[in-house]
Amino acid sequence: MSLKTSNLTKVSLLLATLMAAPLTYAVDDERAAAAYESRHGLFAMVRLYFGPMYGMMRGAPYDADVVKHNAAQISALAKMIPDAFVVDTRENDLDTEALDDIWEDMNDFTSKAATLAERAATLSEEGSTGEDAFKAAFGGMGQACKACHDNYREQE
Ligand code: HEC
Repeated sequence: MSLKTSNLTKVSLLLATLMAAPLTYAVDDERAAAAYESRHGLFAMVRLYFGPMYGMMRGAPYDADVVKHNAAQISALAKMIPDAFVVDTRENDLDTEALDDIWEDMNDFTSKAATLAERAATLSEEGSTGEDAFKAAFGGMGQACKACHDNYREQE
């Protein structure tokens, strides 16, 4: 394979990874409830890793190791978000904050999850080099949370 072709292959693989939204399907209420538990648990884990860093933004002592680890874990969890929404629960009777628009534009939802994965990886790498870099990168990651919640999570 020539260098050029191999680069093209890499680019198209990358695009496919970024844009390939998982195929979704509907289920009965029992299976919908189980799917809800899974995605609820996923965001509970995101919150678990997010909390200590949020504390650092609000005056708790800066800890580079915690930033490096917790942000890397959030990046890994972010990649699972689209999978956690493969079960289309629009027609089920669920107490959920997930908006129907998720399943109406899975590509956009998936790309917002990918943005979080990138920003969290940046936070892990750059945010562990010093407190100022941490604050800037944490802000960047927070915007990725907000960008998705603004569109796809019921506002309180
Ligand atoms: C790609 C979209 C997306 C991104 C990015 C995202 N969220 Fe969410 N989040 C949601 C949706 C949708 C819900 C509602 C889930 C439900 O009720 O079924 C939610 C719910 C939550 C919940 C409530 C948990 C629950 O199920 O009750 C927390 C906490 C949360 N998100 C934290 C975060 C944090 C912190 C970030 C960034 C580090 C983040 N989210 C990024 C889409 C996203």
